Amino acid sequence: MKNKDVEQVLFSEAKIRKSLKEAGEKISSDYRDKNLLIVCVLKGAVMATAELLKNITVPCSIDFIQASSYGEKTSSSGKVVIKKDIGQDLSGCDLLICEDILDSGLTLSKLCDMLSRRNPRSIKIFTMLDKPEGRKVDLKADYFCFKAPDAFLVGYGLDYAEKYRNLPYIGILKKSVYENK
Ligand code: IMP
Ligand code: MG
Repeated sequence: MKNKDVEQVLFSEAKIRKSLKEAGEKISSDYRDKNLLIVCVLKGAVMATAELLKNITVPCSIDFIQASSYGEKTSSSGKVVIKKDIGQDLSGCDLLICEDILDSGLTLSKLCDMLSRRNPRSIKIFTMLDKPEGRKVDLKADYFCFKAPDAFLVGYGLDYAEKYRNLPYIGILKKSVYENK
């Protein structure tokens, strides 16, 4: 059943899982003979990363990083704050940064800059959703599941003010939920 605050379901759970399976297979084939470290960007990418991991068949490790640029707004503040950093040495690692959604690109470009200074062997980007119209910096995902419309989306990890992450599908949030706030 659809949540009452969701205008329209865009991607069903079955569709998301199928796409993450395909992405996992592609990543597994690209990372044969590599030293794959999956970096999940908290909190939004938790569900996508967990599902992606089930479909990765090559040896890999995982770690977590947390960045924040939104607060309780629906567009990026442009200021990216690292709230939790990776604990381990990255030299020799092939990093795959996993995001829920790539919009302005400010969050990921800051993360990539920061992590590249720690001598990983390579850095690539996976994002479940890509909003190319929102881009403010020149950044492309190496892997993505779906192109997203220019609307505020929730579910499958994506939140508005920390809510709706638990929805098993991705949908458009009703404007009435966040307008006049
Ligand atoms: P960017 O820095 O503008 O690329 O924003 C990336 C981050 O903003 C993502 O990790 C999400 O947490 C958040 N974000 C961007 N668009 C949406 C959306 O439609 N719904 C929920 N979160 C979003
Ligand atoms: Mg996020």
